[in-house]
Order: sequence, then C-alpha cells, then structure tokens
Amino acid sequence: MRYNKVSGAKEILNNSSYVIKNPSAYKNKWHQVFGNQNPICIELGMGRGIFIMEMARRNPNKNYIGIELDSSQAATAVKNIGTKHLPNLRIICVDASLILDIFGKEITTIYLTFSEPWPKKQDEKKRFTSLNYLKLYDRIFKKNKHIVLKTDNKILFASSLENLSNYWYTFDCVSLDLHHDERKIPNVLTDFEVQYQKENRPIYYVDAKYKD
Ligand SMILES: C[S@@+](CC[C@H](N)C(=O)[O-])C[C@H]1O[C@@H](n2cnc3c(N)ncnc32)[C@H](O)[C@@H]1O
Repeated sequence: MRYNKVSGAKEILNNSSYVIKNPSAYKNKWHQVFGNQNPICIELGMGRGIFIMEMARRNPNKNYIGIELDSSQAATAVKNIGTKHLPNLRIICVDASLILDIFGKEITTIYLTFSEPWPKKQDEKKRFTSLNYLKLYDRIFKKNKHIVLKTDNKILFASSLENLSNYWYTFDCVSLDLHHDERKIPNVLTDFEVQYQKENRPIYYVDAKYKD
C-alpha cells in the first residue's frame, strides 16, 4: 500500500493541538500532559492513526500516544482526527528509535501494528521486536511489560515470538488468523488491516506480557 505525500504536512502538524512538538520536554511528565494518572499506551508506526484514534475513543480511561516517523502520515492522522474530541490522544512525529529521549518508566502497553517487517537477515535489528528494541522498551515500561503485535508477515511474526519468548515474555493470546479465530478476540482494525481483510490475508497476533 502506497501513501501520497501531503503538501503542507509540517504546517498541519505545527498547528494541531494533538501533536506534541518537543516530546523530549515531557519525559517523565506525560501524566501532566494528559492531566490524569491513567495508563499510557503507545503505538509505534501508527501510520494514518486509524487504530490509535479508535482505541482512544473506545477507552477514555486510558491515554494513547501515536508515534509516526513520516510527516505525511502523521499529518493525515491529524486530518482524520478532524474535529473529534479525544483528550486522551496525542501524536508525536519522530523516529521510534528515539523513545528513550521521550519517555521515562511511564508506559503500560506498546502496540506494534503492521510494523515494517525488515525481512532480510542484515536488517533484523531494525524490527520493533528485535532484542535491541525489547531492551529499549524495558526502560520505558512502568512496571509490567505489555506488547501487542499484529502483522501479516510470517518472518516478522516468527522472529517476534522467538525474541519475546527468549526475553521471558509469556503469551496471553496467540492467533495465526485473528479475523477468523473462534475465540472472537476483541480487535480494533488498523488502516493496513482493513486492506488485508479485503484480501482475506491471515493476520498474526500476539498479546505478550512480562510480570515482575
Ligand atoms: C506498514 S505501515 C503500518 C501503519 C499502521 N500501523 C497500520 O497498521 O495501518 C508502517 C508505518 O510505520 C512507520 N515507521 C516505520 N519505521 C518507523 C520508525 N522507526 N519510527 C516511527 N515510525 C516508523 C512508517 O512510516 C509507516 O507509517
């Protein structure tokens, strides 16, 4: 799926109150940003923000931060929010590898939805479930660790299960076909997932936790 460049993306981001322009200024202070002590969940690579927006709408007692590298995607997310009132949602346009500059130990859940699979061996470290990233997450999770991952990519999924398991995560739920799973696992669709659903592609899903 290809996205078009959004002209004036930077300006759209600058003018939106949902977008945090200097996120590192709020390290260890994100509860102040939201004005409450509710759990803070982040999505890395939120794309056009369809998933995080709907999560924020359905769960007003949790806070959500969507992180997206590409300014055009982030600007489209801002456009998608439009006039909706979602006080528990914020957007950050930054590379996810910089999360340690942005968050202290204040995150409850990390959502990884249709992340870049980086299928080549030499790119393994760039996967959001590489050991490198799992070590970064250790430093932003508040207490227990909770990662929810969805992908259509077998290589990414298999390596994610392996890395999470080697890192002592346990799995609350694993599905090899989320949309047709008999357990009717609660699910909020992402932008990419809508397209894959039309193509009837199986979606791989894992809900992984590590409790001290
Ligand atoms: C395949 S898209 C999935 C978008 C969305 N999660 C969905 O499911 O519709 C992957 C997204 O991750 C973003 N991305 C890739 N690497 C990133 C990084 N290091 N930091 C933040 N975003 C990243 C891309 O720009 C792209 O928007």
